[in-house]
Amino acid sequence: MKEDFKKVNFYGYDLIVNGDVLTPRPETEQIVDEVLKLCGEPILPGVKPDKPKLDSKNLKILDVGTGSGCIAITLKKKLRGAEVYATDISKKALEVAQKNAEALDAPITFIISHLCQNVNNEGDFTPDVIVANLPYVDRNWDWVDQESLKDDPDSALYAEDGGLALIKELIDTATSKYLILEADESQHAEITDYAKNKYTLLNKSGFVLTFTKN
Ligand SMILES: C[S@@+](CC[C@H](N)C(=O)[O-])C[C@H]1O[C@@H](n2cnc3c(N)ncnc32)[C@H](O)[C@@H]1O
Repeated sequence: MKEDFKKVNFYGYDLIVNGDVLTPRPETEQIVDEVLKLCGEPILPGVKPDKPKLDSKNLKILDVGTGSGCIAITLKKKLRGAEVYATDISKKALEVAQKNAEALDAPITFIISHLCQNVNNEGDFTPDVIVANLPYVDRNWDWVDQESLKDDPDSALYAEDGGLALIKELIDTATSKYLILEADESQHAEITDYAKNKYTLLNKSGFVLTFTKN
């Protein structure tokens, strides 16, 4: 594990990150908000929460491509009754995520896996919600500020097929009722169209798309 740790804040929680994981971005906090909304939890003081679609006391959440663990850990802290699993293809990333989860007392099952493959194969955890901030940057995007990505590992950033290869494969293999994905806004129409025979778009907010199974 790289020892060049720095502290970052995500959704009010202090995490450590190093060169093995993506530094969590503020726009990713929207994924947490979308899960909380599905559970009828308040997001902003004074704003009436939505009618719950999910029971947070009996809820299984899977975070695919967990990196530092930021999304999974925040959800476990906010929804203590939920069972949270998280995968990553990088063993080093999972070591960082595990450290963060222990420091914040957030019990999560971490599994090394390509997308949700090993979770599907084990068969004893069927998530109600899958959340994923997978790599979605296309190497040919010349408008991306390379300086802003220099501390992040390539394996956390780039994907083939215009940046959509992993997202499309996750849509193909996901079994959950809800699927919440982060992607660049320029990719949202293609993702929604790709998913349409399996998932319908419920909500689009910032970089985040929330789908429900047809
Ligand atoms: C954009 S980062 C997001 C990290 C974290 N979820 C966040 O929001 O900050 C993408 C993560 O997906 C992981 N990843 C890349 N390819 C993967 C694959 N095929 N299966 C599972 N995880 C993968 C990377 O190692 C990286 O940790």
